[in-house]
Amino acid sequence: MSDFGEYETVAVELGDIADRVASITISRPDARNALNGTVRSEIQDAIDAVETTDEDVRVLVITGDDDGGAFAAGADISEFRERDQFDQREASARPRIYERVADSPLPVIAAINGHALGGGCELSLACDIRIAKEGAKLGQPEINLGIIPGGGGTQRLPRVVGMGQAMKLTLSGELIDATEAADVGLVEEAHPEGEFEERISDLAGTIAEKSPKALEHGKRAVAASAEMGLDAGLDHELELFTSLFATEDMREGVEAFFEDRDPEFTGE
Ligand code: COA
Repeated sequence: MSDFGEYETVAVELGDIADRVASITISRPDARNALNGTVRSEIQDAIDAVETTDEDVRVLVITGDDDGGAFAAGADISEFRERDQFDQREASARPRIYERVADSPLPVIAAINGHALGGGCELSLACDIRIAKEGAKLGQPEINLGIIPGGGGTQRLPRVVGMGQAMKLTLSGELIDATEAADVGLVEEAHPEGEFEERISDLAGTIAEKSPKALEHGKRAVAASAEMGLDAGLDHELELFTSLFATEDMREGVEAFFEDRDPEFTGE
């Protein structure tokens, strides 16, 4: 087990979920795993540690401590009390955890084991894949505080669920459960308690068997579709696709196909 550093509000593990899968667990049980300044900075440090370790890490899972009864219940509202607009602008300065997650070369899975509200929902939206446990609720309740989502929700939510659903969630503050979230595409899958962890392990483990370079390029290519026009996006895809023909992993994948065996991707 490698050393990913000491943290107060997050736990970092490698291999607990599946081989080559790292996990970051948000842990503030007394505050429903709400994202205060310490959590935000520790998530960034933990991602740095996971990305720069010498260990073979190919997938990152972000989840909430079950004792907190949530994935993350949003920004820590107590921090809002004393802030004016200048303080909040400073606290919200980019890059934030949302960009850090979205820009990671690793595929990131949000294992939504409980409520993902406000900044918690936005954190899940910055992840590449969202899998929810039945019973979890998701939403952007900021409107109830007289504010709007400020962690990317107004931009990522419509890209994921479409304009109408994004408007409904943002303007009403209504929460939806995991099953409804799956119906509208806010999460990719919802699973009952007994099957949730197994599914996370299967999915993360399956992805972690692939070539890390292909994973990174696949993530970048798909993510670019939200930012580029079709023509530029197709050019971008071709760049990434053809560059993979320079890797050992591509040779290995093709040879393994003809030899009717599982490929052993090394990242070369
Ligand atoms: N920020 C700070 N503290 C929070 C918090 C948040 N976002 N969410 C929960 N907490 C704290 C509560 O104040 C409470 O603290 P206390 O025990 O000292 O009173 C503790 O966590 C437990 O929360 P509680 O509301 O009693 O639990 P619950 O199970 O009844 O409800 C939620 C859980 C998540 C539905 C509810 O806490 C909630 O709505 N949280 C705020 C969500 C939100 O508006 N997020 C957007 C912020 S911009």
